[in-house]
Amino acid sequence: MFGFLLLGEQLAGDMAARQAALAPVPKLGRFLQTQARQEAFHAVVFQGVIHWLAPRGVRTPRHPSMERYRGLMESALARGDLAESLLALQVLLEAMGDVVLEAIDAGIERRNLGFRRLRHVLRQQEQMHHAFGVHQLDSLVSTSDAHRVQLQGQARNYLEVIDAMFAELEGLFLDFDEDPSDYRHAFRRRLPVWLAPA
Ligand SMILES: [Fe+2]
Ligand SMILES: [Fe+2]
Repeated sequence: MFGFLLLGEQLAGDMAARQAALAPVPKLGRFLQTQARQEAFHAVVFQGVIHWLAPRGVRTPRHPSMERYRGLMESALARGDLAESLLALQVLLEAMGDVVLEAIDAGIERRNLGFRRLRHVLRQQEQMHHAFGVHQLDSLVSTSDAHRVQLQGQARNYLEVIDAMFAELEGLFLDFDEDPSDYRHAFRRRLPVWLAPA
């Protein structure tokens, strides 16, 4: 699970840095640069956790879905489509990540393992990134139906991969003694209304 999160943080950091370069206004660019730094910090945290749990090293399983996700995002950025990249990273992937973090958080809390302040800061930052993306795209879809329809179409590709991510993590969720389908619901609840299925 932490290996999956580490890959997600690395992807988020790389992509936020590239988004910053596409930002049309300085304020947007600054937010994205800050996000890129925060994601790099999160990656270090998870690297530390992995090392702490498995000091002699561990063979981390591959996550082909994360690689597919990266491929989709890279092509959006190569086209200069900042809106699609905000949809993919801040709106969708961060919502997915928050579901995973919430599960881990609850597990750590139950076992009284501490790190309360660190966990709080981390989730707060992720939620800010998500809210930022939702806010940006909310204003975009409110200006035109064409934007909304386009984003809905683009979202389908990413949602398919996110579904594959949940499938890859299924066994790990079962280790938390919980129903994996609850996590899919928790994810859907985090999506903006214009992405909810009709
Ligand atoms: Fe992060
Ligand atoms: Fe984030």
